[in-house]
Amino acid sequence: MEEHATQSTERQVISSCNTELDSKMGGGIPVGSLVLIEGSSGSGKSVLSQQIIWGSLQNGFGVSLFTSENSVKSLVSQMQSIDLDILDFLLLGKFKVYPMELARLGEQAPFALIQAMKKEQQRDIIVVDTFTSAIAHARTDLQVLSFFEEAKRLCAKGITILVTLHSQGVAPDLIGPIRSMCDAHLLLRSEQDGQRIVKTLQVAKVRGAASVTGAVVGFEVEPGWGMRVIPISKARG
Ligand SMILES: Nc1ncnc2c1ncn2[C@@H]1O[C@H](COP(=O)(O)OP(=O)(O)O)[C@@H](O)[C@H]1O
Ligand SMILES: [Mg+2]
Repeated sequence: MEEHATQSTERQVISSCNTELDSKMGGGIPVGSLVLIEGSSGSGKSVLSQQIIWGSLQNGFGVSLFTSENSVKSLVSQMQSIDLDILDFLLLGKFKVYPMELARLGEQAPFALIQAMKKEQQRDIIVVDTFTSAIAHARTDLQVLSFFEEAKRLCAKGITILVTLHSQGVAPDLIGPIRSMCDAHLLLRSEQDGQRIVKTLQVAKVRGAASVTGAVVGFEVEPGWGMRVIPISKARG
C-alpha cells in the first residue's frame, strides 16, 4: 500500500498556506476530516477550495479534484489568475483533475462519484467542486446521505475530503443531516458590512479545533493575488 504523506510526528493539518486564513481555522483542518464548504453562487467556494488545494500541494500532499465547473485547461488558467500555479504538480502527477458531468449521470451521480473517489484512495486529499448538481439529480435523500456516509468511511482511512455545496440547491431537511455528518463546516456568504457588501467565511465547525468555532473572517478575491483577508466591522446581530 502506498503511504499517505501524513505520517510525520507533527499535528497534521490541511493548510491553505495563507497564514491569516489558516489561523482563523485553528491553524488548519485536521487530516482525515470530511469538510463541507457551503455557500451561494459566487460566494467563493471554488476559490477557497483552490487555495486549499494549492496549500496542500505545497505541503507535499497528493490531491485529486472532481470538478463539475472546469476542464483541466480552464482550471489551470483560473488558478493562475489568482496566482496559484499548479502546472508542475499536474505534470508530476501530484495533482489529478477529473472533470465530471454530474447532470449527465442523472440519479446515478452520487453513487458514480463515490465509486470514482474510492479509486483515489491513495491520495491524501479529495475535493469535489461542486456536489450541488448531484443532489439535484438524486431521486432520494438516502442516495445523497449514503454519499456522505461512504465519504466518511474514506476519511476514516486518513483521507481528507472537501465537498462544496450551493445551499439553495438543497432541501432544508437534508442540509441539516449533511452538516452534522461533516467534521468541518465552512460557510461562505456575502454580507452587508456598513455601507459595503463583503464576502465572509464563517468557520461554523472544525472538529478537533474547538476554539475557532464561529469565527468570521472577511475576504476579497483579488486578481493576480487570490484570497485576501480584510477587516470587517462585524456589527452583526
Ligand atoms: N481571477 C479572479 N479575479 C478576480 N475575481 C475572481 C477571480 N477568480 C474568482 N474571482 C471572484 O471570486 C468570487 C468567488 O468565485 P468562486 O469561488 O468561483 O464562487 P463559487 O464557487 O462559490 O460560485 C467571485 O466573485 C468571482 O468573480
Ligand atoms: Mg464554484
